Amino acid sequence: MMWGGRFDKKPISEVLKFNSAENIELDQHLIFYDAVGSIAHVKMLGKTGIIKKEECEDITRALISFIKSTNEKTGALKLEYEDVHMNVEVAVTAITPHGKKMHTARSRNDQVLLDMRMYMRSNIIALGKSIVELQKSFETLAKKDGVMVAYTHTRVAQPITLSFWSDSVVKSLYRDLERLLQAYKRVNQNPLGAGAIAGTSWPIDRNYTAKLLGFEGVQENELDTINSRGECESEILAIVSILMNKVSGIAEELIWLSQKGLVQIPAEFCTGSSMMPNKKNPDVLEIIRGRTVRVQSNFYHALGVKKGLMTGYNSDLQETKYAIMSGIQTTIGCLDILQKLIPDLVFDQKEIATELEKGYAQATEIADSLARKGVPFREAHERVGKLVKDCEGQGIGLSNTAAFPEFSRKEWEDAVSLKRSRLERKVVVDKGYGKMLDDEEARIEKAYQNLIAK
Ligand code: ARG
Repeated sequence: MMWGGRFDKKPISEVLKFNSAENIELDQHLIFYDAVGSIAHVKMLGKTGIIKKEECEDITRALISFIKSTNEKTGALKLEYEDVHMNVEVAVTAITPHGKKMHTARSRNDQVLLDMRMYMRSNIIALGKSIVELQKSFETLAKKDGVMVAYTHTRVAQPITLSFWSDSVVKSLYRDLERLLQAYKRVNQNPLGAGAIAGTSWPIDRNYTAKLLGFEGVQENELDTINSRGECESEILAIVSILMNKVSGIAEELIWLSQKGLVQIPAEFCTGSSMMPNKKNPDVLEIIRGRTVRVQSNFYHALGVKKGLMTGYNSDLQETKYAIMSGIQTTIGCLDILQKLIPDLVFDQKEIATELEKGYAQATEIADSLARKGVPFREAHERVGKLVKDCEGQGIGLSNTAAFPEFSRKEWEDAVSLKRSRLERKVVVDKGYGKMLDDEEARIEKAYQNLIAK
């Protein structure tokens, strides 16, 4: 144990297992970030003269060879060394004894913050890209065009178009993207140098490590930096929780529309029953709905860990690691499968027209047309309401009724039509965000490659 000096006994194996077995599995995803972050730290130690030039070069070389031989998939972290941080240090020290100096002016508390900031940074980008792909799938869907039903209270309200419906999703997803990009700015601040709680008396250069790792700036107050573990996590989880509410709403709407026969969910996205040969179930959509609550629980988990937690590092914070990783990866999984399903949806125009007729969906348009002829809207509403009641009695739709005397034949046909040209939208996903995310990903990747190359 690297902290063994003040102990006369090692923790029993159950303690190690209890504290760290789950965590070390999650740390697999941090191996690269931990090692590349250590390269930046060690380079800074060399530059400021905290360690000697040769020591810096030796440790850097060892870290680079560690990165080249170990990755998320191959790197088996050993529980006996507790976590990724000490596993990396042990591996480096096995290559060069100078490895024993790499932890100078650093604590695992700021180190884990650093690793998590890098993890969140990359995964915000991945999430953003998945959102853009989902938007594009609605762009494709919108091209099919056609008529669609708008519901309020789950009852037929008015006719709309498929492009209008698709556009509403695209527009709404822009807000999620914007929220994510705002959070990104706060995540993209260098926490390294915060030490265990109060910084360090070594003459470190926090701007230098920030620059090497591609951070936009330095999170200045060290105590605040340590205290902010879990805050970025909670912010991102709040954002994905809001996002998943919409995704789950879309899933629910498609399940419902398909149950009514208005939409066919492509067979490749359905599964059958082991007992009932007739079944074709919309599992993907149901599982999206179900996983939404997982993401939202991850948000409460992160919030709950922080609730009432006093200043400084507390081991409770380790729990936020599972919450954020699960929240982000679950969300990405849901977005990616939904994005594949959307363009293949078949909206049955005949069934949709029948649904609209059965719901007297043109009623508002007729009332408005009548009001435009000078009839007070309240009277127009009353007359159309009576007409709907008559239709109901006769078992016919509004398209099959006699015109009001105020209307010409053409005007009546327009009023009872299910087509809504004012709701036809050309859905174009703004390429700006996709490019911004690609550029940012490339910028970070370049910073990492520079550290590994030299
Ligand atoms: N595994 C720990 C975490 O994820 C790393 C930091 C440990 N620091 C400590 N003082 N025990 O939070």
